[in-house]
Amino acid sequence: MNATLNIPRDKSLDSSLDLLREGYTFIQNRSEALDSDIFQVRFLGMKVICLHGPEAARLFYDPEKFMRLGAMPKRVQKTLTGENAIQTLDNEAHHRRKEMFMSFMTPGNIHRLMAYISQEWQQAGKKWETQDHVMLFKEAQNVFCRAACAWVGVPLPEDQVRERARNLGWLVDAFGALGPKHWRGKQARRQSEKWIGKIIKQVRSGKLLLDEKLPAAVIANYRDVNGKFLDRKMAAIELLNLIRPIVAIAWYVTFSALALHQYPMTRQKLRNKEENYEELFVQEVRRFYPFAPFLGARVRSDFTWQGYPFRKGTLVLQDVYGTHHDARIWERPDAFYPDRFREWEGSRFDFMPQGGGDYSNGHRCAGEWITIEAMKVSLNYLMQGITYQVPAQDLYFSLAKMPTLPKSGFVINRVKTAAEFTSPITTNGCPFHH
Ligand code: HEM
Repeated sequence: MNATLNIPRDKSLDSSLDLLREGYTFIQNRSEALDSDIFQVRFLGMKVICLHGPEAARLFYDPEKFMRLGAMPKRVQKTLTGENAIQTLDNEAHHRRKEMFMSFMTPGNIHRLMAYISQEWQQAGKKWETQDHVMLFKEAQNVFCRAACAWVGVPLPEDQVRERARNLGWLVDAFGALGPKHWRGKQARRQSEKWIGKIIKQVRSGKLLLDEKLPAAVIANYRDVNGKFLDRKMAAIELLNLIRPIVAIAWYVTFSALALHQYPMTRQKLRNKEENYEELFVQEVRRFYPFAPFLGARVRSDFTWQGYPFRKGTLVLQDVYGTHHDARIWERPDAFYPDRFREWEGSRFDFMPQGGGDYSNGHRCAGEWITIEAMKVSLNYLMQGITYQVPAQDLYFSLAKMPTLPKSGFVINRVKTAAEFTSPITTNGCPFHH
């Protein structure tokens, strides 16, 4: 047998508290200190292998070597994703479920969602004109919640919008939290699943008549590998797996507004309509700002990589944020510089804000094109649909908090809507259905 190398170890006996203290930078800090893209830590006594960088990401996204069963902590499933959802499936069960999710991502469907989003921004903007100040993050959540529900076919009475949107936001806000934020996320999940469970029941009983192509109808009528309908709770969880992440785009929109404010040159370039600059800006927002910190999977069966042993069942974490801030890959990674993406060759492993690797074979985000297009529509609205001021406020965001956000939620005032505004809607970047 070939001799194996020892995986470098973090010197701390248990790194759980360090993870809480360092958040997004935890993996990169150790990777740099140990001068290694692979190292080992212990979380509450459990051995975990951490990976950093594109070479490691290529390994992490090999479905022959890793599986998702048992990788996502229950506390995250009980808040962010729902229990036993697509994120935890492997093999044929995953493949079939993913096919269903990908079937929603046609150019026509994306266009339909963007039209809703654009319309909702315009409605919201009219209201803001009469308001003293507006917290963009909250407003964006409401906009995306209304648009997402219309898109999937879930009726959303106006008097429920705020509560539903807030709950969906809390699901996301809980993913790295302990204590009250976690409990709030769990309660928000119970309420959201109850709400969407009722919709599934109504669709199945014919009480709610929907076009059969709408996602709510497709999910209600979807049959799993065993030929059976998803149970009502599971169907609700998967429908929420469309609505919740659309609402989560509010995080990126808030960071987009922050970038426009803190890097005014980018505003100028957008105004000058520099070629493809919108797309470059959106990509840089997804690289530069923190959202998904890292991803987890378990080793399927023993193997060796670059001399290091991976034992069956070991939990492995792939660094996302740190890989986006690695100076070996990105020149001056801590500068916000959208033009860098002109040179970017589109690797599936160095830039993975919504996961890397393959869409159909792997767990890469099904909603990546939706996110990119929705960010563009929203950026357009902020640039051309309204004028506004940014009053003094606390815009600091902590890298220890996961997920993080500027403290103030990005407040704007003196909003005026443009007399004429129609958002150009594109569905570029959707290679799956071309
Ligand atoms: C704020 C924007 C978003 C971010 C940051 C994001 C991020 C992610 C990440 C990191 C993953 C996991 C990748 C992996 O495990 O390898 C994922 C998976 C997923 N995302 Fe997104 N996402 C976003 C928006 C969306 C949207 C708009 C949708 C759908 C409308 C969506 C649907 C999904 C689904 C269904 C999965 C599970 C895929 C699978 O397990 O195969 N996401 N997303």
